[in-house]
Amino acid sequence: MTERFSFTLEAADGRARKGVISTPRGEIRTPAFMPVGTAATVKAMMPESVAATGADILLGNTYHLMLRPGAERIERLGGLHRFMNWSGPILTDSGGFQVMSLAELRKLTEEGVTFRSHVDGSRHMLSPETSMDIQRQLGSDIVMCFDECPALPADHDRIAESMRLSMRWAQRSRDAFGDRPGHALFGIQQGGDVEDLRGESAEALQEIGFDGYAIGGLAVGEGQKIMFQVLDYAPGMLPADKPRYLMGVGKPDDIVGAVKRGVDMMDCVLPSRSGRTGQAWTRRGQVNIKNARHADDPRPLDEACTCPACTNYSRAYLHHVFRSGEIISSMLLTWHNLHYYQELMAEMRDAISAGSFDAFEADFNAQRSAGDI
Ligand code: GUN
Ligand code: ZN
Repeated sequence: MTERFSFTLEAADGRARKGVISTPRGEIRTPAFMPVGTAATVKAMMPESVAATGADILLGNTYHLMLRPGAERIERLGGLHRFMNWSGPILTDSGGFQVMSLAELRKLTEEGVTFRSHVDGSRHMLSPETSMDIQRQLGSDIVMCFDECPALPADHDRIAESMRLSMRWAQRSRDAFGDRPGHALFGIQQGGDVEDLRGESAEALQEIGFDGYAIGGLAVGEGQKIMFQVLDYAPGMLPADKPRYLMGVGKPDDIVGAVKRGVDMMDCVLPSRSGRTGQAWTRRGQVNIKNARHADDPRPLDEACTCPACTNYSRAYLHHVFRSGEIISSMLLTWHNLHYYQELMAEMRDAISAGSFDAFEADFNAQRSAGDI
């Protein structure tokens, strides 16, 4: 693997950008949506099915995999790609964010964070150095800096202190990562909803130098209005020639708004998690398949969708298998949701190439406000 990691911008329409990230494991078309494969699986999906939805890259989690089955074990078994049978690129989150939301008895210091596993109560430590080591053992293609952030709303001093700690951790992450051709290290901008702090964070990261830049600390309770206010300035603070990744977002309308504001990559559990709770996402908005109105409906979830759930099954069937707790319910709805998300990304890439993003957005909004039929 001598090829290097690179990003090529192909088109722009307003602030929206279309491009390609090249990695030794394949190309990532941007704007890209990354399905979440937390525990070495995109739940309810075979990897080849995830690829069939149009995904170029998956997200994995340091926190979950270090606890179970363990990073050394995955390394001995040939790395995460072989372990989970996904040969395309994998981005791994660095663990700090998950520790703060999932672990017990957390203790945050300058060194890092100690915590108890939510799986078996065992004690662990994560720091920039151990996170870089674990992500290397996993064989991650895009490694994320070790960071932390407060939930919003939070006061200015709390946001500033947390951001500055994350920037010191970003330098330590960079030093520990070293030079690994073909693998990328992304910095993570923090600073909450404070423009000056976002600017300070962006400068600190660029001083260090990364292969890509994430926007972190959003979708943590602030709501779409404030998130979009931050996205009106935050992407423009980051280098134009590197990918920009908005972490943990979001609903389809969040994604469209983020791409419009200059974001290139996103990830979210929403399409896969919703698939397991009977929520479908379509061009016409959200559909709750559990609802009794679907019980006798012979039509597909979405007539225009070409996924297996919509091609081969009725709403009545999807309703029945969900109500019966059948495993195929999770499989079909997850497939549909991921297919819809990837189709949305493809439509946005085409619209950016064609210079018609505004028309795309108007059509996206019109179809959603028409509602489910
Ligand atoms: N996932 C969602 N938001 C964040 C963030 O701010 N940092 C990290 N590491 N992961 C995230
Ligand atoms: Zn479908």
